Amino acid sequence: MEKRKDFASKMGMVLATAGSAVGLGNIWRFPVEAGNNGGAAFIIIYLLCVLTLGIPLIVAEFVVGRAAHTNTAQAYKRLTRNTFWQQTGRLGIITGWLIMGYYVVVSGWTLAYFLKALATPPTIAAHIAKQPGYWSDFFNELTSDALLPVLCVIAFALMSHFIIVRGVEKGIERFSKVMMPMLFILLIVLCICSFFTPGAKEGLTFLFRPDFSQVTFGTLLSALGQAFFSLSIGMGCLCTYASYFSRDTDLLGTALKVAGIDSLVAIMAGIIIFPAVFSVGIRPDAGASLVFIALPSVFQEAFGAFPWLAYAVSIMFYFLLLLATLTSLVSLHEVPTAFLAEDFHMKRRTATTIVTLSVIVIGTLCSLSMGPLADWKLFGKSIFDCLDWVSANVLLVVGGGLITFFVGWKMESKTLRDELTNYGNYPYHTRKWIIVLLRWFVPFVIFLIFLSGIGVL
Ligand code: TRP
Repeated sequence: MEKRKDFASKMGMVLATAGSAVGLGNIWRFPVEAGNNGGAAFIIIYLLCVLTLGIPLIVAEFVVGRAAHTNTAQAYKRLTRNTFWQQTGRLGIITGWLIMGYYVVVSGWTLAYFLKALATPPTIAAHIAKQPGYWSDFFNELTSDALLPVLCVIAFALMSHFIIVRGVEKGIERFSKVMMPMLFILLIVLCICSFFTPGAKEGLTFLFRPDFSQVTFGTLLSALGQAFFSLSIGMGCLCTYASYFSRDTDLLGTALKVAGIDSLVAIMAGIIIFPAVFSVGIRPDAGASLVFIALPSVFQEAFGAFPWLAYAVSIMFYFLLLLATLTSLVSLHEVPTAFLAEDFHMKRRTATTIVTLSVIVIGTLCSLSMGPLADWKLFGKSIFDCLDWVSANVLLVVGGGLITFFVGWKMESKTLRDELTNYGNYPYHTRKWIIVLLRWFVPFVIFLIFLSGIGVL
């Protein structure tokens, strides 16, 4: 087996982990969930979930990963003899595979939109912006097409393939170090632009003025599922990344940085998207298509007098989405790749190829489920919707509950303490609260919300 390589620098490590967290979850899924669940009230609940449940869980995954120093399936084997807990790692790998299957489809759309933005010269774009239904037709045609989205799926899966094949340091770390700062700059530029759109006032009010009358247990479950999805929790992704951390990485500090960056990007995405949604007059609960229907014409509206600026900004936006998506897909790809390479003693290249091919197959099915295979239903939903709901609201939540229970109650407490304090380098009493949360608060709250959300309680 090839030698295991770690992240080479602290900065690279934080950026790669933040790169995993920041993705379609923040820019595409977060506004959709916030729109469906009443806006500001959802956001407050979401942020509470991140603070009280998300951060301890990130730490929990980091602890397992770094203590075991191997992929997520092996990790539990190294830390416990109990076969039930050993399966937790495998559940995560299956979850990751499923998420990747539909994630790559939406990733493919971002690629299609990026190319479309490039290929639409400013004069034509200005003309299009005057046609009300243009972008919803474009979106519906794109997603229900049999060929183009599948080609985009293949292209995206291959991009992620070539980064993963290069390994952790030369592939993931180097790529994230360039891409993440670029992403922040683009986000800031776009937030500023958003203040100039006609729907700015309405959009920002929707985003920041809470209305708790719409909050139900379903909302809580959605906020929890969204927090897990966005922070990459619940399937061993962070556990796998942490297995590449060095011994002197501060796990709590890194968790706080990653959660902070991720939440900031989600809020910024809201600031970019809701003014756009109100500007073009669609409803904020329009569903999976917000980013793809409301946004394209908004740049023209905001910069009507400067068509070239509008052209540049829309290209930038889709490029940003593409980057954020790619760093996340790479992190999802790494989990089964590390598992196959280490558990089955495969070359990294072979393991990556197997994962890429399988993702292309699931991705193609998901993509076709919006067009030619629209009649194939699972639990009354299309394959795509079903995978999204089951993975975020069920599998990640169950996985997260199991991980925290394992770390809080089943793992040797000395290992937990050592990992949390970096072998005594940080005082234990300042970190003990994490253990208290992990034992008493997180697992029970997660299971309560889960049972109520799916209607059992
Ligand atoms: N967090 C990513 C996003 O917001 C998606 C993602 C990457 C993910 N790795 C994950 C989701 C692991 C769940 C689990 O787009």
